[in-house]
Amino acid sequence: MGTTIAPLLARPAWRALQAHHAQLASRHLRELFAADPGRGERFALEAAGVYLDYSKNRITADTLDLLVQLAEQSGLRERIDAMFRGEHINVSENRAVLHVALRAARGACILVDGTNVVPQVHAVLERMGAFSAQLRAGHWRGYGGKPIRNIVNVGIGGSDLGPVMAYEALRHYSQRNLQFRFVSNVDGTDFVESVRDLDPGETLFIISSKTFTTLETMTNAQSARAWSVAGFAGDQKSVARHFVAVSTNATEVAKFGIDTANMFGFWDWVGGRYSMDSAIGLSTMLAVGPEHFASMLQGFHEMDEHFRTAPLRRNLPALMGLLAVWYNNFFGAQTAAVFPYEQYLKRFPAYLQQLTMESNGKHVTLEGRRVDYDTGPIYWGEPGTNGQHSFYQLIHQGTRLIPCDLIAFLRPLNPLGVHHELLLANVLAQGEALAFGKTAEEVKAEGSPDWLVPHRTFEGNRPSNTLLLEELTPAALGRLVALYEHNVFTQGVIWQIDSFDQWGVELGKVLAKAIVPLLQGHPAAPLTHDSSTNALIRRIARGARDGGAV
Ligand code: F6P
Repeated sequence: MGTTIAPLLARPAWRALQAHHAQLASRHLRELFAADPGRGERFALEAAGVYLDYSKNRITADTLDLLVQLAEQSGLRERIDAMFRGEHINVSENRAVLHVALRAARGACILVDGTNVVPQVHAVLERMGAFSAQLRAGHWRGYGGKPIRNIVNVGIGGSDLGPVMAYEALRHYSQRNLQFRFVSNVDGTDFVESVRDLDPGETLFIISSKTFTTLETMTNAQSARAWSVAGFAGDQKSVARHFVAVSTNATEVAKFGIDTANMFGFWDWVGGRYSMDSAIGLSTMLAVGPEHFASMLQGFHEMDEHFRTAPLRRNLPALMGLLAVWYNNFFGAQTAAVFPYEQYLKRFPAYLQQLTMESNGKHVTLEGRRVDYDTGPIYWGEPGTNGQHSFYQLIHQGTRLIPCDLIAFLRPLNPLGVHHELLLANVLAQGEALAFGKTAEEVKAEGSPDWLVPHRTFEGNRPSNTLLLEELTPAALGRLVALYEHNVFTQGVIWQIDSFDQWGVELGKVLAKAIVPLLQGHPAAPLTHDSSTNALIRRIARGARDGGAV
């Protein structure tokens, strides 16, 4: 992997940042703004259709210089190039990481192990486009001859969160005579409630699974097939008109009984949480059509190009990633919040949770050495303004430092009276209140009695980024998602971790498999788990057998 990178704590910029932090930590944003009247304009950056105001961060120009030095000493530039060159930067799975190839222009050349993958990407996009056009026009008919009206995506993790988020985000552009549902949880309620009011004759299932072996998805897929086929008096031939698959695993798709002619493929160099713009986005394309899907890919690509080519100091994803490291490692922030002031982005925080935490929730370096610093923070969020009336209290007056990303759009998709002005006024007000707070003197001057003053005082000095985009178009969504993808990558490079594997999800899967037969009433073998798990298994088995209350 090229030049050797010094361990994080030994990099000169890291040490310099420690000293710098010791000086800066006690300085208030009020002071930083007072000392530099142009700060709000200078600490802002606009690129690839995104305006980022990062002035309300606890930084100075020196902080930025040092953070950029840290990125250089961490080999960020080289790692970006290595990713785009198709090197196997996912070391623990020995794979290339090329979600950027999913949105490369038709004529581009991106090699994976010597093969240009761009033509394959466009071939799948064309098949998806042809299928979408047919279905949207009512020409893809169900087995009984009815047009398809309902599309149910069955998947989990990256095969669900991206499709759900994108469907909600782009609902404004969706074909309204089609209904979309998303089934992910192995809890039977999810499936039952999703299909309860649907007609099997009008329903198409997209079984989305990179591996096509995921327990939850396969269980839901079996239930879907049983439900669908029952609608045709058990005629298995109906499956061909009501099931399509999105996967990298043609063998398993065929075994399940879906004709591979109805399969849309992708590749092992697309991570599950980086796959919403691959064939995993089939439901998105069915909802909004191939042209809007292409605009979304173009938006992704614009941000990719910006990330690949812009100097780090003027590079949106790199800056956001470095700021995340600044709070995580120097201020000890445990969490980071993302608040979209856009109702259509209501599932964006949930989507980001997998993207950020499955990527950077790692405890060893690329070489397998235990890290001696914190890695990925906990990401969370809700759409504004709802969060303001629930947990913002803690952000404003609690004892924890929670850096926030506030995301807003200049133009509403649904103009209605003064709603949008109120929404935008709230984003700005929150950023201002977080940064500057309200001093005891200001509270007193308003006539508060002395005893009430501490309660009504806002310390401020709470950092935030404000992201402004013009309008929530498919392209804007692509830019925003790519911005966070590369932000996550930047953080992972600084921490020298593998942001593209997910071994941490394996153990629970293996243990669950071993527990299933015990709950199915086959506890012939002695229970070999710990005493707590054994007791719980016995209690559940007894409850199921006797119908006893827990
Ligand atoms: O939870 C682990 C995981 O492998 C995710 O990374 C992935 O997005 C999800 O499961 C679903 O996997 P698949 O698409 O193979 O069903």
